[in-house]
Amino acid sequence: MKNKPWDGRFSQNTDGMVERFTSSIDVDKTLYASDIEGSIAHLAMMAHEGIITEDEAEILSEGLKRVKGQIEEGEFVYSDALEDIHMHIESALGDVVGDVAKKLHTGRSRNDQVALDIRIYLKEETRAVMDSLLALQRVIVKTAHRHMGVVMPGYTHMQRAQPVLFSHHLMAYYEMFKRDGQRFEDSLKRTDVMPLGSAALAGTTFPLNRELTRKLLGFAAISDNSMDAVSDRDFAMEFISHAAICMIHFSRLSEEFVLWSSSEFGFITISDAFTTGSSIMPQKKNPDVSELVRGKSGRVVGNLMAIMTIMKSLPLCYNRDMQEDKEPLFDTVNTLRASIDIYTRMIPNIAIHGKTMEDAANKGFLNATDMADYLTMKGMPFREAHSVAGRAVAFALARGVELLDLSIDEMQKFSALIEKDIVDFLTTKNMVSRRLTHGGTAHDRVREAIAKAAVELNMELE
Ligand code: ARG
Repeated sequence: MKNKPWDGRFSQNTDGMVERFTSSIDVDKTLYASDIEGSIAHLAMMAHEGIITEDEAEILSEGLKRVKGQIEEGEFVYSDALEDIHMHIESALGDVVGDVAKKLHTGRSRNDQVALDIRIYLKEETRAVMDSLLALQRVIVKTAHRHMGVVMPGYTHMQRAQPVLFSHHLMAYYEMFKRDGQRFEDSLKRTDVMPLGSAALAGTTFPLNRELTRKLLGFAAISDNSMDAVSDRDFAMEFISHAAICMIHFSRLSEEFVLWSSSEFGFITISDAFTTGSSIMPQKKNPDVSELVRGKSGRVVGNLMAIMTIMKSLPLCYNRDMQEDKEPLFDTVNTLRASIDIYTRMIPNIAIHGKTMEDAANKGFLNATDMADYLTMKGMPFREAHSVAGRAVAFALARGVELLDLSIDEMQKFSALIEKDIVDFLTTKNMVSRRLTHGGTAHDRVREAIAKAAVELNMELE
């Protein structure tokens, strides 16, 4: 009792373990809507070209819509014997419309079919990712705008370095997520290419009108080489690569949120709704969302390694290895979208402790560079000024005080160029507002950056 669409030349049934092993239905059922959309366009094109009749196309398309309904109502029965979503749908179509279902696969192979399905799916998901990235960027810009003026320590080597505006720090992430959006927009162009009509690998003898199928499916272009079209998964590798970079941005932001919400920093408090407790330590309130996003970034980087390793060294054209492309791709889409959405919801639920940040910026000699700049401004060569300021730091450090705790007399021992105006020069706020270079942390620059972002995001700032 053979029962496979491809079993004509087989005399034995497939081993049960092989059926389970080769089946991909648990994963690729995600593609059911794209698969049906692609088939309906294929039918309409074939009817238009007289390869099948209009009546047949009509019956088959209606049948496919009923199958879609069955899947969406959860009545559909999946079985490993039918391998993948393509064969499930074709077999269910046979149950609905009878023998005419056998005409659906004319001039088509599962090789170009699956390539088409993934592209239809990924185009939609890429657009959704781009939209949600914009929503996240709006939340970031709003938060930067709301807390404009709050000063915090900026770090290098995780050591306090120079004071910056909290908004400037946050807007750095705006830049990262903006680049992520641009990357997705760019790779979308290469995903938006229609492979159907390549058939198994060489094209087909049926007079398919590929241009019509492209139009019906809303693709920008058709593929130019049938062998490439059925072998190409660059678009999936690109998507996962861009997603991995985006997740790395999230992992860095997550790390900062984890640190900032600790008692050691106390810069932020994440609201109760976005934290969880400990089953043993009653006092605990943990930044789990950030920790999980940080952890999930590892999974997405792993997915990138997986798909690249699957594709590596594959000879043309289709190889069954490529069936393994879907798990890393779907997992990446789901993980990335969930991470973007949860951060978009969480950021407005974070309290910013401006006073604590500012106190931290006032301690740890964050004004040492500016003392050197002060002396340089008064005529001392910078290298010498650097050394003078360094000696002043060592002197203050030995007394357990900050530079501004020293008297003018004490400071003048390091250089006669020092005058009373140094006190005002070295306040945290003034240090920030003097960093006026394009892209710097000065209030004026950051206000401009926020305003520019608001224009780019087409949003109002309250
Ligand atoms: N399930 C297969 C995949 O995802 C569909 C293509 C199968 N083609 C074939 N010749 N076995 O890659």
